[in-house]
Formats: sequence, structure tokens, C-alpha cells
Amino acid sequence: MKIAIIGGGPAGLYAAILLRKQRPNAEITVYERNRADDTFGFGVVFSDATLDNFEKYDPPSYRRITQEFAYWDDIAVHFRGTVHRVGGNGFCGCSRRKLLLILQERARELGVVLHFETEIDNEARFADADLIILADGINSRFREKYIDHFQPDVDVRANMFAWMGSTRPLDAFTFIFQETEWGPFIAHAYQYEAGRSTWIFETDPETFERAGLKGLDEKQSADRMAEIFGWFLKGHPLLINRSMWRNFPMIRSNRWVKDNMVLLGDAKATAHFSIGSGTKLAMEDAIALADAMRNAPTVAAALKQYEEGRREEVEKTQHAADVSLVWFEHVDRFWDFDPVQFAFGVMTRSKAITYDNLMLRAPDFVAEVDKAFARQVRARGFDVNIENPAAPMFQPLRLREMTLSNRAVVSPMCMYSAEEGMPTDFHLVHYGSRAIGGAGLIFTEMTCVGRDARITPGCAGLWTDEQEAAWRRIVDFVHANSAAKFALQLGHAGRKGATRLMWDGMDRPLEEGGWDVVSASPIPYFPDSQMPRELDRAAMDRIKAAFVAAVERGERCGFDMLELHCAHGYLLASFISPLTNKRADRYGGSLDNRLRFPLEVFEAMRAAWPAHKPMSVRISATDWAEGGITGEDAVFIARAFAEAGVDLIDVSTGQTVRDSQPVYGRMFQTPFSDQVRNEARVATMCVGNITSADQVNTILAAGRADLVALGRPHLVDPAFTMKAAAWYGADGVFCPPQYLPGKEQIFRNSVRDRQDFEDLKIKAKPKTRAELKAEATKPLAAE
Ligand SMILES: Cc1cc2nc3c(=O)[nH]c(=O)nc-3n(C[C@H](O)[C@H](O)[C@H](O)COP(=O)(O)OP(=O)(O)OC[C@H]3O[C@@H](n4cnc5c(N)ncnc54)[C@H](O)[C@@H]3O)c2cc1C
Ligand SMILES: Cc1cc2nc3c(=O)[nH]c(=O)nc-3n(C[C@H](O)[C@H](O)[C@H](O)COP(=O)(O)O)c2cc1C
Repeated sequence: MKIAIIGGGPAGLYAAILLRKQRPNAEITVYERNRADDTFGFGVVFSDATLDNFEKYDPPSYRRITQEFAYWDDIAVHFRGTVHRVGGNGFCGCSRRKLLLILQERARELGVVLHFETEIDNEARFADADLIILADGINSRFREKYIDHFQPDVDVRANMFAWMGSTRPLDAFTFIFQETEWGPFIAHAYQYEAGRSTWIFETDPETFERAGLKGLDEKQSADRMAEIFGWFLKGHPLLINRSMWRNFPMIRSNRWVKDNMVLLGDAKATAHFSIGSGTKLAMEDAIALADAMRNAPTVAAALKQYEEGRREEVEKTQHAADVSLVWFEHVDRFWDFDPVQFAFGVMTRSKAITYDNLMLRAPDFVAEVDKAFARQVRARGFDVNIENPAAPMFQPLRLREMTLSNRAVVSPMCMYSAEEGMPTDFHLVHYGSRAIGGAGLIFTEMTCVGRDARITPGCAGLWTDEQEAAWRRIVDFVHANSAAKFALQLGHAGRKGATRLMWDGMDRPLEEGGWDVVSASPIPYFPDSQMPRELDRAAMDRIKAAFVAAVERGERCGFDMLELHCAHGYLLASFISPLTNKRADRYGGSLDNRLRFPLEVFEAMRAAWPAHKPMSVRISATDWAEGGITGEDAVFIARAFAEAGVDLIDVSTGQTVRDSQPVYGRMFQTPFSDQVRNEARVATMCVGNITSADQVNTILAAGRADLVALGRPHLVDPAFTMKAAAWYGADGVFCPPQYLPGKEQIFRNSVRDRQDFEDLKIKAKPKTRAELKAEATKPLAAE
């Protein structure tokens, strides 16, 4: 077999090694345009898990690499004169140059032929090769040559960064957030061998300009960085080697394989440097390709297997990297945060590390985070314990005169079980049990303001006296038997009206018994959905009046809070999104215009709702669709409602148009809540695939939301909050006397269960290489 590899970086060399081990008779040649020891960059970083992989696949290179490594366990965050350190991270750094020399040596030993100073511009010279590996890096010429086939998506990010080195020793992966007269600078730094560390500097384009970096050469810009970070460098110089400032390109390729050619490493996909995974991804690509070549009967089958098997893992890493890079791009959002909360945000930014996880490895740090959170709560007038604070989930919150005893919320969820809008005993049991379960706030399902405002025939409503009485009974039960506050969500289905019950085909039009539907513009939801009538002014007035009448009924029912549903493509959302609003009048066009009617309805409701009771608005903060609402629009929308008197923005997303492309994942809507809260400076509730109390605490402690709503988890577990309270030992959660023995038991058992769980986790955790090294070098105790 003949294999040609273009590019002698980590991807190309490691692929050569693994394939040659597998096929000792194969003719494998690496073509590298640089000289053998002529490499850019300073150090590379691997996690312990990646090193385990290297050990498994090629022990000799693993041994040589790890002899050269610097190990560390801690991450240190420097911000506004403070430093917070978190242990247990298990990372290693190594010189990129040494890594490449080790891989070159190992490849030669195995019989791989290496050609340096050989630039390949045409793969035609490898016409007789069975496999051509394109490992030619981030600016891959071959990816560009076959751009129509590989279909790369290159998203060049706004922030500027430069890679430098230093002789400054570091004993932790170090983030320094530095305020300057021009704006914020960030240093991501780690040691990779004795007396050598990598320094990546990052800043936004405006700060870059203001700091005069644009016209400077490498040396001059290193001098400027040395001035800014001089207090930390302590006289150590900054070293340069192709240390030009550049923008990071986030690259994703739709296809990785063309005929017998395959993209590997940076050539096919990149991951932002803030999670230190570029070299790891490149070498793990080589592992995946070698595995596929071992298992598949033909090269074509192997390449298919490589692409199909590896894509998910790469995309997962890229997703984590994207979330992380967005955090760094928007660091100014958090600049006025308490330093410990800021550091918590840095640690948890890409979702891999959470509150509970940090509690195991850095309990003192989490204790500080909890105290800082409690101090903020106390500053709002609550007499909470600061020295021994409850976890953030169990801290109170006040909106106007409504006080919530904790931050867990039952999200609004249609039960499709009403008859002609009448709530039934099902609703009494449903809401009653969730209220007793301990959540601080529960929402009604979308309650419709008229018969024709319903989504489905099973939707609940509040337009008749009988419905009002039925709701009052439920509200009374909740108030009599729980400490939960009860919010009424009011909405109008718009073009998604007259559709089937969820379990009969969500959003599909009713076959019979439907009613006329209306929307901002006459655009049906599905091509075969009913064509909605465009609302005229008279109809808008009637709908506004229906909302106000329902508000008055809601007040008579005794609800504590009111939410206006402006999300998910229903009537008011259909005005806000440009994808569903094509009007030519003053309610269409600019976002200001599109917001006009929803704001008008909100203001009329606010006027009818008692001043001491709070109101929220649920929005879709993105349509997940080309040309639709974006996070930036959501900030604008939130500000507009805040000016009109909203107390909380309930940040959901999507469901506007059929062809949207949501990016699902754990806590997937939280970044939008973060953006709205910390840019528009309005309280938010986040929701969406949040399934554990650990996640709730992570979100709250990082300042990414003020309340956390859970939908589906509450469908199967009404006592979600009570169980979480037992786990965290937060005994302030109300329990009706009938259920007290159950509460006492779970609180008692949880102390032991949690101890067992933590012991198990600690025992099951293998020692990091840094810990092992520290043990090995520890002086023996005197006997
Ligand atoms: C300036 C810079 C500095 C970096 N510093 C660091 C760092 O300090 N730490 C870190 O972890 N990561 C660093 N990275 C990122 C990291 O290098 C990559 O994520 C990782 O090396 C990807 O490995 P790769 O093999 O896919 O690509 P690369 O390492 O880029 O290797 C591709 C190789 O292909 C060669 N090549 C390209 N085209 C041709 C051609 N037509 N013919 C022959 N050869 C060709 C190139 O010379 C290069 O050696 C840096 C990246 C850049 C751009
Ligand atoms: C059965 C069901 C019904 C829902 N009905 C509503 C609703 O009436 N109003 C609303 O704003 N959201 C509604 N949603 C969306 C939820 O409030 C929530 O935003 C969504 O389920 C994501 O949260 P989760 O991942 O915690 O379930 C509904 C969700 C479900 C599962």
C-alpha cells in the first residue's frame, strides 16, 4: 500500500506512525514544506485523557513525549487584583517543536520516509497512491482547491490574538484578565517545559485599535504586551516566533473525504485555542483514521468509517470551543462581576465543569462563590446567612412585591387536557403537586385569551366566568398548601392555532372542528396549514382587549405574577420575527415597528395588572434560522420591554418557522439568557434542557440567569426541588405537614447518600499525572 501525507504537523506525523505500525510494508511518505526543526508556536497542551489515548496507541512516542512534559493541576484566574485557583484539572504542556521532533524520529524509526522543504501544490503526483492524507493545516491549500466538494464553513471571529512565549515559570494554567486604558486584554498562559511558557494574548478589535497595535511589528507588539502584563511577567521577556496578531477562523467542513483523499487536523476543522484542543484534535483524528484503516475492508470504506465515526466527537469539541470563545469575546459583560463569580464563570464557561464538580475538587472556592452570591442577595434586602450560605438555587428573589423562596421554576407547559378552555381536575392535581414539590414559582400553561386564541381544542383558557372559577380553585389550592408563587401565562396562538393535541401531531392542522386563524402576515406554518388572516387594526384592538380582560380575571383568581407569551411563533411572536412579519404598515419592517403591537398589548396588560405584582415576557431569543431573530435582537427586545416595565425576561428560543436549525445540547438556551441578562441588564429566567440541580446552581452562580425553569424534568418529578433541597441540605423549603415525615427522611438519608457519592467519585477518579509526579518526587519521610 502507498500512502502520501501532505503536511508534517502533529496530524500528518502521527497518522504516518500509526499507519506504518499497522502496515509495516506500506510505503508511507510525509511531505513537509518547512525544515525539520523549523516550527512555529511554543507549547501545546494535552489533557490526561488525551495522553491515555497516546499511551494506548503508541507507547514509545508516548514515553518520549511525557518525559518532556510540564504537568499542572490548577487553573488560576487573575482578575482585578485577585487570584482564584482550582485544582484537579490534570493537564500537560510540551514544546511543539520537541513534540514534532519526537514524532519525526519515531516515524523514521518505523520506516516512514520524510521529505522536508517540499511544498506540494498538486496531488496529481500521487496518482499511484492508495491514500492521500491532507494534513496541511489551517490554511489547507487542498481544502480550498476542492472547496466545492469539501464545503468548508469558515467563520472568522472578531477578536484578535497572538501567540508568544516567555521564560516566566507558571505552576497553573493561567488566565489573566487585564484592564487597560484602551480596554480589556486577556492572557491565556501555561508552562510547557522548564523555564518556558506559552502566552496567547487576546483582545477585541476596538481595544486592539485603541492600543495602537495595528501598525506595530511583532517585536513592538510584544513590547506592548510586556508593558501591560509586566506586573505578572516580573522581568521575564516575551519571546516571538511568527507572533503576528490574527483573527481565529472557526472552520467546519461539510465533507472530509474526496475519492482517496482525506482531510485531517486543522485542515478539516478548528477548535478555539481557549480550550487548548487543536493539537489534541489533530492527533486524535490520526487515531480515528488508523482505527478505521485497521477495521475496514477497503480504503474507501475506511474513509467513510473515519468520517462517520469521528464527526460527532469533533463537533462536540468544536461546540465546547465555540461556547468558550464566545465567552471570551463577550468578557466585558462580566467585567463588573464580583471577582469570585467572574472566576466561576471562567471555569464553567464551556459546560464541562459544573458547580457540583467544582465542589468536589475545590470546595473552598465554591464556598466563596456561595458567599458572594449570598452577599448579593443580602444587598437586596434579604436577611440570608452569609457565613454558611444556602446554594444559589435556594436563595430568595424578589420581583416587585413578590418574594420567591428559591430559584427553581416549573416552566409553562400545555397539558392539552382542558375542555372548551376549562381547566379540569387534571390541572388541579398537576399544578397542585408541582407546587407542593417545592419549586419557588410555577407557571400555568399558555392560557388562551379567547376561544379562537387556542392552539388546540385541549388548551386552557381564561375568557369565561366558569374558567375563572376553575382557575381560582387551583390558585387557592396552591396558596393554601405550598409556598410556591403562581404565574399566569397568557397567550394567543396566532397562525399555530386550530392544530391537533401534542400527541396527535404537534402544530398539524385540525382535520375538523377548527376555527379561523390570524397572524401578523398571511403565511401558513406548514404549506398545508390554514392560511392565516392578516390582523387589521380593529382585530388588533379586539385581541388587546381580550388580553386585558384575561388579566383582570387573572387578578381575581389570585395569581401572583403574569407572563405575556411572545415566543415560539404564536401571535405576538409572529409580529416580532421578520420571518413571519412581512407587513408594510407601522407594525412591520424595522424591529421597532415589529415590536409595536406586542409592546402595546404588554403596556395595556401592565396598566390593568396591580402595580405591586410582577410581569414577565417570554421571548424566542433566536429563530435559529437565516434572516430571523438573533441574540443581538433579543437584547434590543428585552430593553424595549424593560422600558415598558417588565420585571423578568423568560428567555426561550425558536419554534418560529419549520425549517429552523436549533443547536440542541445541555442547557442550550442559557447563552441567550446570559446575553440578555448581562447586556440588557434585565433579570432573566433561562430554560431548555436543564435537568439537574447541579446545572441550576452552575447557571445561577455564574450570573447567567436569575431564575431557572425546568419543563420536562418536572413532568416526571414534581418534587424535583424538594429532592435537590435535601441533597444540598437546604432545609428552608416548605413542606405541607401531611408530607413532613417524607421530608425528614429524605433530608436525613441525603447527608449519607451524598457522602457516599462523593467518596465514590473521589475514589473512582484516577490520579492526574501531576499528582503522580508530585508523589514520585516527594522527599521520603525520615524513618
Ligand atoms: C502561528 C500559530 C501558532 C500556534 N501555536 C500553538 C501553540 O503554541 N500551542 C498549540 O497547542 N497550538 C498552537 N497552534 C495551533 C496548532 O498548531 C494546531 O491546532 C495543530 O498544530 C494542528 O495540527 P495539524 O497537523 O492539523 O496542522 P499544522 O500543525 O498546522 O501542520 C500542518 C503542516 O502542513 C505543512 N504544510 C501546509 N501546506 C503544505 C503544503 N502544500 N505542502 C507541504 N507541507 C504543507 C505546514 O508547514 C505544517 O507544518 C498554533 C497555530 C498557529 C497558526
Ligand atoms: C408538553 C409541553 C408543553 C409546553 N407548553 C408550553 C406552553 O404552554 N407555553 C410555553 O411558553 N412553553 C411551553 N413549553 C415549553 C417549555 O416551557 C420549555 O421551554 C421547554 O420544554 C424546554 O424546557 P425543558 O427542556 O426543561 O423541557 C412546553 C413544553 C412541553 C414539553
